Amino acid sequence: MSILKIIEYGTPSLREKSKEVIKVSKKIKNLVSDMLETMYHANGVGLAAPQVGQNLRIFVVDVSDPKGPIDPIVFINPKIIKKSGAINSYEGCLSFPQAYTNVRRYKNVMVKALDINGRPFVKEARDGILLARAIQHEFDHLDGKLFIDHCRNRFEANNVLAKYNLPPVEEDRLIDEQFLEDEIVEYEKNHPEEVEKLKKEIEESENSKQ
Ligand code: NI
Repeated sequence: MSILKIIEYGTPSLREKSKEVIKVSKKIKNLVSDMLETMYHANGVGLAAPQVGQNLRIFVVDVSDPKGPIDPIVFINPKIIKKSGAINSYEGCLSFPQAYTNVRRYKNVMVKALDINGRPFVKEARDGILLARAIQHEFDHLDGKLFIDHCRNRFEANNVLAKYNLPPVEEDRLIDEQFLEDEIVEYEKNHPEEVEKLKKEIEESENSKQ
């Protein structure tokens, strides 16, 4: 096992569409082991193969309590088969050192994938829990999409990126998600206490990197 170099925002290969894995070979299993080691080393909750220079449809997540035992989930050739609801998610990415911003995500997702033994499984994550958001974040990496493409406010996102000397949001990459934005705004209007809670969490927590 070895720790791999994580590619940073601005590198063209992060914007490429990744290829399906044909066979979960020994080589793929080794790559997954290295990805897990790299993710834990970087204190991340998720890592996608393109982030370590392999444009293959693989990602790993571990949203378990960092103080408890590890609980990695490996997704090979994942497909999102259901998504619904909308939520504000405050996200960072291992390819964007230190930069966090508010993005739009679905609240509930169901994903089908192959596990490390090449066996199919289905995973559902609801209510906007970290797993639901991490799955969407990592899945995007496989299509060359990045969390900033979902930003709720590109001025806020650009300020954060500039602070860390990263290139600005690419306007033609921004995803039109007005329907998600409308739902988030409506939710926030009816649940001001949730908005306050999230604000506090953002201020207090270190936040997880994906
Ligand atoms: Ni990421």
